[in-house]
Amino acid sequence: MTPNTNDVRGSEQFVDMYQPSTIAGDFAAKHIITVEQFSHADLQALFVDTLAIRARVQGHDTSLLQTCAGRVMATLFYEASTRTDMSFQAAMRRLGGDVIATSGGVQFSSVYKGENLADTVRAVGCYADVIVLRHPDIGSSYEAAYYLDQLGSQLARKPLLISGGDGIGEHPTQALLDLFTIVDSKGGVDGLRIAMVGDLRYGRTVHSLAKLLAQYEAQGVTLYFVSPPLLSMPAYILEFLDAHGIGYHQSDSLDEVLGEIDVIYWTRVQEERFADAAGYLAIAGRFIMTHSLLARAKHDAILMHPLPRKHEMGTSADHAALDADPRSIYFRQMENGMFVRMALLAKVLGANLS
Ligand code: NCD
Repeated sequence: MTPNTNDVRGSEQFVDMYQPSTIAGDFAAKHIITVEQFSHADLQALFVDTLAIRARVQGHDTSLLQTCAGRVMATLFYEASTRTDMSFQAAMRRLGGDVIATSGGVQFSSVYKGENLADTVRAVGCYADVIVLRHPDIGSSYEAAYYLDQLGSQLARKPLLISGGDGIGEHPTQALLDLFTIVDSKGGVDGLRIAMVGDLRYGRTVHSLAKLLAQYEAQGVTLYFVSPPLLSMPAYILEFLDAHGIGYHQSDSLDEVLGEIDVIYWTRVQEERFADAAGYLAIAGRFIMTHSLLARAKHDAILMHPLPRKHEMGTSADHAALDADPRSIYFRQMENGMFVRMALLAKVLGANLS
């Protein structure tokens, strides 16, 4: 299914045309499009609420169901998803809100008839208070927010947009849950050496996480980008890090640094983004995390992965060996995703969390 767009500008041009509001201490009624909207203080506020929500869920606190009662979230996914889709759905339901989607998935919506993103997102905005959008085009979440703002003047409500990933651009809520997991597991970020390994070119999670970590330059965070040269971190992300004064190193060898790394963030080679299979196969097997490799990492390092994982974590037997190592925290990372998304939904919907 190729999303049709009658808009000759294309989604990417909305990145320059549309400036999402910074959070600046107030999440209410803000679209969530890019990690650039968040300050250090905003992240702290979000994480305080996330911790409180996690404790309330653990304690079966049913008063959480009052938080978003009567509010409706729509999921609009033009790309495959398990975690982002389901964790947002679970988050909204655990806050007492409702969730809607086209009955047979987006392929049975009017997208199938050729409707463009601008019209589809406005249709969904007529029914939902908040829309979680995943789309294959960079800038699609900017475009969606732009059209929702236009619609807002005609409607009784102002529908909000949360990006669930825009192509090879950003995945802001994944970065929020990744950072929360780092802070939660390591007790903070001070002086951490954080390695991102694998497909840094097409992997949107590492684009957002690197930019988010730029907030912590004063805490002495150092980033290590490890990838084959063909899959290195895009220049615009490196420029962003330079502008924020955050230290980083680029390499195509993990051996040089593994023993010094505190956070190992492993990624899947994004097969679906390659123009040809040969290009993918040429580099697909370059970085494989196995338990024998993890054995060479620091005893208190943590191993993260946004998931899904494929062969970049070896065979099923390798998966099992990694899962048994207490340094592997990707399942906790996943569960944290639901708590962070609960806090975010409550805050953008202006709900009372006490
Ligand atoms: C990631 C994504 O979709 O960007 N998955 C996720 O949301 N947890 C990473 C990936 O697909 O490799």
